[in-house]
Amino acid sequence: MAAKARIFAGLFLICIILPSLALAFVDHFPEDRLENESDKNDVRIHVNNVAHVSKKKVKKEWKKRAKLVHDFWEDMFEHDNLIEENQPKEDAAPVTPTTPVPPVDPTPNPVPVPPVDPTPNPVPVNPTPNPVPDNNVPAGYPGATPQAPVAKGYGGAPMTPNPSDPQTNVPVEPAPEQDHPTPEDIKKHSKYAGLQVGFYDDTCPNAEKIIKDGMVRAFANDSSMAAPILRLLFHDCFVNGCDASLLLDQTPSGERTEKLANSNGVTVRGFDLIDQIKAELEAECPGIVSCADLLVYLARDAFVVSGVPHYDVPGGRRDGMESLEANVADNIPLPTNTVDQMIDLFKKKGMNEEDLVVLIGAHSIGVAHCFSFRYRLDNPQKATLVDPRLAGVMRFTCTSPMSTVAFDTTTQYKMDSIYYKQLAGKRGLLESDDLLGEDPRTKDYIQKFGDDEKGWFSKLGQAMNKLASIQVLAGDQGQIRKQCRAVN
Ligand SMILES: *[C@@H]1O[C@H](CO)[C@@H](O)[C@H](O)[C@H]1NC(C)=O
Ligand SMILES: *[C@@H]1O[C@H](CO)[C@@H](O)[C@H](O)[C@H]1NC(C)=O
Repeated sequence: MAAKARIFAGLFLICIILPSLALAFVDHFPEDRLENESDKNDVRIHVNNVAHVSKKKVKKEWKKRAKLVHDFWEDMFEHDNLIEENQPKEDAAPVTPTTPVPPVDPTPNPVPVPPVDPTPNPVPVNPTPNPVPDNNVPAGYPGATPQAPVAKGYGGAPMTPNPSDPQTNVPVEPAPEQDHPTPEDIKKHSKYAGLQVGFYDDTCPNAEKIIKDGMVRAFANDSSMAAPILRLLFHDCFVNGCDASLLLDQTPSGERTEKLANSNGVTVRGFDLIDQIKAELEAECPGIVSCADLLVYLARDAFVVSGVPHYDVPGGRRDGMESLEANVADNIPLPTNTVDQMIDLFKKKGMNEEDLVVLIGAHSIGVAHCFSFRYRLDNPQKATLVDPRLAGVMRFTCTSPMSTVAFDTTTQYKMDSIYYKQLAGKRGLLESDDLLGEDPRTKDYIQKFGDDEKGWFSKLGQAMNKLASIQVLAGDQGQIRKQCRAVN
């Protein structure tokens, strides 16, 4: 077993780490993975503008890398048919007929799920939790206190719903029944808290284009930029509503802001991109477009550059004036949450089990930090639930709590349903994600979306619009910030 682990570790180094380092400068070739022709064109233009990188060379490198990753994954999991079914054409390396595969999942089943452990994280974006301070290393890392079973901020107190929590009164309306709400439907039924598609058509007609161009530009430069934007939106909307409170560096009250909380801290990024885009918006139409709307549109565009079909997003949110670190802890899911805890939290926000699973699929892109999953190997009962080969990757890669591993190693920058297949096979990095694959309330959705990517995409637009209408400020509430880091 140990020898095998070393072999996998070596493979991982050769196939993933080294190519990543070598290709750090040519990691810009997103356009083939976009479905929408107009988006494709935008990205192509930007890619062509990236000086010093020849397109041909980049394409070749992508193919090479895709094959390496493909081979690695094959070795790791002697994959069922997962890769062949889902791999985008360009990645389809000739798959050598595999020798009879032992039934996958050597691990998990026998052990009943441990009672309530602090589990996971329905965080759509990089679930990474916690900027663990150096002097407080989670168990399992060099320097950790032997007894400490759980990192600070994970797991400790169960998330008890706070009756006085303003979130409970959120007037979030249920999502529309049909798969594709048209702009007219959205307007007519006011299902999205009075927000409107095309809100800036008269007052700032280029607003959505400016925002989208910013996302396309950022993604063409660095394909890892989509995931953190999705995570920002999720963390903004779940704490005090979608009011851009997460973007504030400071508020008039002078208290510590949401940004500084454990679940955010050093693991959130994307603020610079937002500042750039906000500056462009202010130059075009001063005082019109809120930071809250900017973030919501930007998240839609982060999906689009990652391969999700365009969907309409209503606008009209206003920016909040308050942001408190203390509001974060009870409102952001953790990798150690149980399914009960996750479902309860989503219910408080007006979202159901299906929404939870739909949003988890966003883990198809992005990475998790080791402190959010490495602890699983230190608890014998939990460790038996981790696929042994995945455990090998965890051991090898987690040289520090801040090391990262992609959720979906096969197609790290492409939003697809491969991640659901991983979860269905109990191969999720995060404990919370894995639990969703076996809980009776959620596992059918995991199966369904794993088999029906288009079905998932259409639910994704709905769930995102639901998320983006949590407790919004509208009309003359709040304000339109001049810059996103401070109230006016
Ligand atoms: C491009 O990406 C790199 C790495 O993320 C970043 O440091 C740099 O600022 C980006 N450049 C632009 C113009 O966004
Ligand atoms: C492609 O994107 C454009 C602008 O973002 C949008 O107007 C159009 O409807 C999209 N097309 C499809 C097929 O999704």
